[in-house]
Amino acid sequence: MKTKVSRRAHFNAAHRLHNPNWTDARNKEVFGLCNNPNYHGHNYDLIVSVIGEVDAETGYLMDMKILKDLIKSEVENHLDHKNLNKDVVDFSTLIPTAENIAKVIYDRLRPHIDQSKEIEVVLYETPRNFVTYPVK
Ligand code: NI
Repeated sequence: MKTKVSRRAHFNAAHRLHNPNWTDARNKEVFGLCNNPNYHGHNYDLIVSVIGEVDAETGYLMDMKILKDLIKSEVENHLDHKNLNKDVVDFSTLIPTAENIAKVIYDRLRPHIDQSKEIEVVLYETPRNFVTYPVK
């Protein structure tokens, strides 16, 4: 049986949901308040989980200090207190919805974690709205 370990993290960021291929009216209709031209912020909560086999010698699935430092360097330093649309290159052509932010976080962490282990990212944009990536 596999085991899952998780680490919780947090960052604040601003965004605007806007599709440049659409008219302003269509953007407003689809994205509502999140289309506000002057941006708005969210307090994002993040849970990164690593799934795999526990090492018999250490009793660890993954050293949580390493996971903590990875989330700091790859996610918090990259996204915290940023305007996602303007400051973060990943969103230069990608709409910064919670779905897309979760995928960007996954893609940034994936190369740094042993390929024998799975990763799951859960991103809360509000206490009630959250996204899980990937889902099988
Ligand atoms: Ni928003």
